[in-house]
Amino acid sequence: MSGQRSRKKTGRTPTDAARRIRELQEEIRHHDYLYYVLARPEISDAAYDRLFEELRELEAAHPALVTPDSPTQRVAGEPRQGFSTLRHAAPMLSLEATREEKAVRSFLERLPRGTRLLLQPKLDGASLELVYEDGALERAVTRGDGRRGEDVTANARTIDSIPLRLREADRPAPAMLAVRGEVLMRESAFEALNRRLMERGAEGFANARNAAAGSLRQLDARITAERPLEFVAYEILAVRGASFDTDSDALAALRSWGLRVPEPVVAATSVQEVIDYHARLADERERLDYAIDGIVLKVDDLRLREDLGATSRHPRWALAYKFAPRHEVTRVRSIVVQVGRTGVLTPVALLDPVEVGGVTIARATLHNREEIRRRDIRPGDLVRIHRAGDVIPEIEERIPEPGRRRHAAFRMPDHCPACGTPVEERGPLTYCPNALGCPAQLVARLVHFGSRDALDIRGLGTETATALVERGLVRELADLFRLSPSDLRTLPHFGERSAESLYRSIQAAKEVELRRFIEALGIPGVGSTAARALAEHFGSLDELLDADERGLLDVPGVGPALARDLARFLSEPRHRRAIERLIEAGVRVIAPRRRKSRSLEGKTFVFTGELDAFTRAEAEALVEDRGGRATSSVSGRTDFLVAGRDPGRKLDDARRRGVRVLREGEFLSLVGRRAGGRQG
Ligand code: IVH
Repeated sequence: MSGQRSRKKTGRTPTDAARRIRELQEEIRHHDYLYYVLARPEISDAAYDRLFEELRELEAAHPALVTPDSPTQRVAGEPRQGFSTLRHAAPMLSLEATREEKAVRSFLERLPRGTRLLLQPKLDGASLELVYEDGALERAVTRGDGRRGEDVTANARTIDSIPLRLREADRPAPAMLAVRGEVLMRESAFEALNRRLMERGAEGFANARNAAAGSLRQLDARITAERPLEFVAYEILAVRGASFDTDSDALAALRSWGLRVPEPVVAATSVQEVIDYHARLADERERLDYAIDGIVLKVDDLRLREDLGATSRHPRWALAYKFAPRHEVTRVRSIVVQVGRTGVLTPVALLDPVEVGGVTIARATLHNREEIRRRDIRPGDLVRIHRAGDVIPEIEERIPEPGRRRHAAFRMPDHCPACGTPVEERGPLTYCPNALGCPAQLVARLVHFGSRDALDIRGLGTETATALVERGLVRELADLFRLSPSDLRTLPHFGERSAESLYRSIQAAKEVELRRFIEALGIPGVGSTAARALAEHFGSLDELLDADERGLLDVPGVGPALARDLARFLSEPRHRRAIERLIEAGVRVIAPRRRKSRSLEGKTFVFTGELDAFTRAEAEALVEDRGGRATSSVSGRTDFLVAGRDPGRKLDDARRRGVRVLREGEFLSLVGRRAGGRQG
């Protein structure tokens, strides 16, 4: 048959290939929908990757069949010189905002009696318009001045939760859809990003919103692609080929087209319902992983919306009811300088303790030399501080006190406060260059080395690490493994039993899984996710040490910047010697454990409270061995919460979200273990 000749190495005729490509694209879009919109994935990441790989290979063999809306086409092109501006399909207005219950009342009073409102969280990110034509993403435009914004289409295409093609399983895509939503960065991702940026000497972002907006507006879309951005849609700006009577219907349509919408959305008709919802979200706010700064009230009936109309700036059918800010005013007692494990000197303000949003704050980071100079914070100053989620509290501004005499300006020391070595300045950061000899760096490295996700050496906290270093018992990481129980007995607060127990934890840590060992090395930018990816990719320490920058780029989740930093770290002779000496001291790095089964494939677990049979790390390993995932906080993606003794707030979170709660015994039977053993 003539078809034979045109078969490519995939062994398919072009028509076969075209069919299979369409099938794969649809299947992948379906799984994206399950994952991003419903937060209920049905297949494992590995199975998803296989579909993706098959599609990629087929498209590579049949380039003529590649369309711009294929899931494979999220790749970023070359950097651009600047953004062009585009006109919005309809003006992007802003919301009238208030913090007063009174204003909420009068908003409701201006509406016809009994008007049905939709309440939803007010997301604190960067607003973005997406335009779909015949179901395909055509352009993405920032808010700009509300009429025109910047064309950030190339960047938006790299955001996984923005469908390149609308899903049509439940209803056909409209001829044209312009939808508005918010680009967000999760708090946890923002913190990790900032840590990475600062460790590289770059400037961090002030908050997750700035990080999201800044990442969206990168001229080089490859940088955007590396940033963990998400998109949530909340408003149809214009549509052709579909029509809706209510906003509830519009949200349902957006969802079915594969766009994430805000959660939770509830209907309300009375002020009391609005107040209750506001209070409930204000309370949940601390636990949410993304930033919200209030709630939005919207008229559900779209016809009524038209009647109500808009002023030149905001619609009369919506109101933002914002939360009380989490700020407080206090005084700086003094400024101290901390030395971290990478040698960065961080100025920290010690404060008169104050409570902010239920937590007592006694210290706040001042970041670096530049920040202190820019904001001119001195000991004795009155300052406004701010706390967001679990982030380290920050000083927002100094409150001027006319007539009060101020301290002399604070200056970063010329010498490391821990070892006296002259400091080096790199960009805004100040470093102690004495990486191997500085006791403060060694203490910080030791604590990290023994931390839960690294070697998990229980009993090696800051106090013990400091004593070990001060007494000269530990001069480099490897010395830890040469300590005897009698060495440990000389430490303050240590008796026979505690010395013996720390000794045993240290000895037990000698045999260490590759991923933990990588994490323990404390490579800037490598947290537990990257450590796991590296371990899975390379499989052994030698393979990792042999890898060059290009090889590192092949690791899923490792982008160009991290690959470069990693390659530099790994090739540094003193790092290699430190690793050799750990091995000489008896550390055995073992290959990643093979998964024992896939019985928990695709399931996400969170643990709270104390377990009788296992440490947290052991329990998490049991989950991972069976193909599941263990994460630290309850979210929409959590399948099970395992509650041990004295469960924490996560138990409430799980109940509220309807996550299944397991007692330890139930967990044991799920993983096929009987109670009573830590071994194996
Ligand atoms: S509706 C004009 N809903 O809040 C009405 N806005 O000025 C269209 N925002 O920049 C907006 N969450 O980007 C709407 N659930 C939500 C929202 C939301 C966040 C943003 C919006 C705007 C700002 C208010």
